[in-house]
This record gives sequence, structure tokens and C-alpha cells, in this order.
Amino acid sequence: MRFQGSERYVATPDLMLAVNAALTLKRPLLIKGEPGTGKTMLAEEVAQSLGLPLLQWHVKSTTKAQQGLYEYDAVSRLRDSQLADTDSVAKVRDIRNYIVQGVLWQAFTAEQPVALLIDEIDKADIEFPNDLLRELDRMEFYVYETRELVKAKHRPLVFITSNNEKELPDAFLRRCFFHYIKFPDAETMQAIVDVHFPGLKRELLSRAMKTFFDIRGLPGLKKKPSTSELLDWLKLLVAEDIPLEVLQSADDKVAIPPLVGALLKNEQDVTLFEKLVFMQKHNR
Ligand SMILES: Nc1ncnc2c1ncn2[C@@H]1O[C@H](COP(=O)(O)OP(=O)(O)O)[C@@H](O)[C@H]1O
Ligand SMILES: [Mg+2]
Repeated sequence: MRFQGSERYVATPDLMLAVNAALTLKRPLLIKGEPGTGKTMLAEEVAQSLGLPLLQWHVKSTTKAQQGLYEYDAVSRLRDSQLADTDSVAKVRDIRNYIVQGVLWQAFTAEQPVALLIDEIDKADIEFPNDLLRELDRMEFYVYETRELVKAKHRPLVFITSNNEKELPDAFLRRCFFHYIKFPDAETMQAIVDVHFPGLKRELLSRAMKTFFDIRGLPGLKKKPSTSELLDWLKLLVAEDIPLEVLQSADDKVAIPPLVGALLKNEQDVTLFEKLVFMQKHNR
């Protein structure tokens, strides 16, 4: 099994190398990068191109590691115990009826090999990755309530993504293969845009790209626009049929681009940009 990129996803050679290294090592692939650089989509595309079903676990600040293994539904059991019919009585007696399987359990017990995405692991608290060390390493865990050991039939291909909001513990890092998706250079970005908008007019594209990279280059931006924002913006430019001249004046000065809300997501950044345009206008 090797990943060669896909029609819908532009993978740089070093990214493909990383995916294949994780496949060879049978270790989780930890992918970091700015939001919108295609981390989640990578897992989807790799799974699809290798023909593996993808199980997804989207982590939130309140997510606990245990939820990925299983949860004991005590509330349902209590409710059922208040019913008097024989079915309920039999059901209540067996605790297994109240063990709810988590994503890891499903991945471990799937009949065929699967891919597993643990998305945005840095959202959870610091204990979360530590609590999953053993499970991801040994690919097994113990269910105390039923005294059963759940062991992976096939080692799932694990993707873990992080937006770098928190550091991950060393013991966790040791068990992963790591790749940082660098922000795409102009050439790679061009390839990504081509995948999404095959027929885009070259002139419009090159001007839009210049504006985009100019904005990204502004020192002091709070939130730099990323790939997905560029794609959104291009979609709007096409949909609204924005004329070329509006995008950039002939003398190559920066102007406030139309629909800037697709690129800049807070008022400080917009103000910063407006100041720059203002200064440029008055400096010539
Ligand atoms: N390498 C790429 N090839 C094709 N599309 C991409 C690529 N990187 C990003 N995208 C686009 O950007 C969007 C956001 O990507 P996503 O995987 O959600 O980013 P992340 O998970 O890193 O925040 C995707 O839906 C896709 O449209
Ligand atoms: Mg994502």
C-alpha cells in the first residue's frame, strides 16, 4: 500500500513520503500545520485512495480519551431498571447492553482494515494524548465493566492532526511519525487552485494570487488567510464576476480587494490593511 496523491488533492513529494513512512512504520501520522492547509482532507484522500473506510473522531475541548474507547451509559440502565416488563429486567441485568462503543473500538473490531482520523487533537486538554498512548501503541484496551480485552483485528492507519494550539507530550510524540504541512508556495498553491477551479482565467488567477500573497506577507496580521480562504475568495470573485481592474490598479499599488471578508477575519487585520493602502496612496 502506497499513497501517490490523488486527483482532488495536491500532495507535495515530502508529504507523500511522510504518509508512506507512517504506513511502513505502522505508526500514527501526526500532521501539523496552519488551519486550512489540508490536514483533514489528507486523511480523507489517503483513506480513499488506499480503499480504506475512514472513521473520524473530531476532538473538542471537552473530549475525553475514554469516549473514544467506550462509555458506560448508566442513565439508560437506571431508566430501564424502573420498567417492570421481563424484557427490560433481562436487559438491565447484562451490563454489556449499556456499554457504548467509541470510535477506537469500532476501528479495532472492524472486519477490514480501516483508517482512523483523530482530528484536532490539540483542542483537548493535555491529558488526552497521554491517555491514548497505550491504546495507540498496543492497539488494545481493557473494558473493566465486562472484563473483556478489545484487541485490534487489523492495525488501523491512524492520522492525528493538530493546529499547534498546544504542545503535545514527548511520550506521545515518540510514537508518531511527524509531518508539518508548510504553507504552500506559489507553485503548489497554483496547483491546488487548478484542482478546484480548472477553467479559471489566467489573468484573474495571477492577480488574485498576488493580492493573496501580498496580504499574507503583511507584517503583524493576527490571522493570515490560508488555502481554504483563498479558495473561498476565488469562488466569490468568479460568482460575482468581479472585473480584473478592481483587483489591482495598473500601477501595481495595493488596493483593498473586493470581498475582503473572505480573506481577513477580524477588524484589526482589516484596519491594518486599510492603513497600508492609505500610506501607499499618500507616499507617491
Ligand atoms: N493540498 C490541497 N489540495 C487540494 N485542496 C486543498 C489542499 N489543501 C487545502 N485544500 C482545500 O482547503 C480546504 C481546507 O482543508 P482542510 O483539510 O479542512 O484543512 P485543515 O484540516 O488543515 O484545517 C479543503 O476542503 C480543500 O478544499
Ligand atoms: Mg481540519
